[in-house]
Amino acid sequence: MAYMVEMLNDQTFEIEEEQTILEASLAAGIQHYHVCGGKARCSTCRVIVHEGAHHLTEQNRAERRLRKRKTFPDNVRLACQTKVTGGKVKLQRIIKDSTDLNLYVYGNSVDARQGIGEERELALMFVDIRNFTPFIEQHLPFDVIHLIRRLNVLFNEVVEAGNGKIVEFLGDGFYAVFGLDEEKSKAIHNAVATGHKILSELKWLNQSYINKYFEVDIEVGVGLHFGKVILGEKGIGETQILTAMGFPVNVAARLETATKELNNNFIISEDVYNLLDGKIESAEQKQIKLKGISEPLCVRLIGEKYVFDYAKIV
Ligand code: FES
Repeated sequence: MAYMVEMLNDQTFEIEEEQTILEASLAAGIQHYHVCGGKARCSTCRVIVHEGAHHLTEQNRAERRLRKRKTFPDNVRLACQTKVTGGKVKLQRIIKDSTDLNLYVYGNSVDARQGIGEERELALMFVDIRNFTPFIEQHLPFDVIHLIRRLNVLFNEVVEAGNGKIVEFLGDGFYAVFGLDEEKSKAIHNAVATGHKILSELKWLNQSYINKYFEVDIEVGVGLHFGKVILGEKGIGETQILTAMGFPVNVAARLETATKELNNNFIISEDVYNLLDGKIESAEQKQIKLKGISEPLCVRLIGEKYVFDYAKIV
């Protein structure tokens, strides 16, 4: 009996019950990588299963052994060990040329799931130091870099304690995600608590260190949104960098910017507010405009007014 396999970005072909996906794919003329010759040793034949996982044969011993070494995500199978038992199956080859081979087989992807990218719902936090340019202009290079390093150490400690991960240090701020290893409501709770902790720890650092040595008060703006993003790794060679992309990321960045015009150092989206366990009585509701979107976005102000009125210099 024959079934249909749709190989995304390649072609749709027939597969007989006794054929492996690799055999049928090669017979259909697809240049399907199979460096070890189909012996479950190289993993170059791996495919992502988009549809019809229940129509595939169970993992055999050889596949299980290789998967253990390579830590594949559940939706990736070895084409050389897998057969089709019914219905229609939608697959996608991962390795299509020698550069892909380096990226996925000989590369250093720390988490195989992130190596192939996946959609995830995450809490997204942007933090930026307010008005840092005058500080840069008035201080020695050592002082500028030293202060940024002190602040980054503090931010990183607080974010990690809240189960978050800093995805990127920006010029004078950072972008972090929450929910990589915990469910939605916990991630939101931790992200909100982390935002408050950053603000209170910064107050403490201002009083105990920054005021004394630099005679300034450092303030930050925190923006927090929740949404579905594409998570993956975008590094090269030894250096793998986690990245989260999508429209919700732009929203989170916009919330952080809005902290200046709304004169409140912590702003969350209404989506985040609605997902919180307990409501915050003092959370004033406002609306902001997003670039390119006609409908205004509802936000909640859950921080404090800035010491300095940045709205004047927006
Ligand atoms: S061809 Fe080598 S593991 Fe499938």
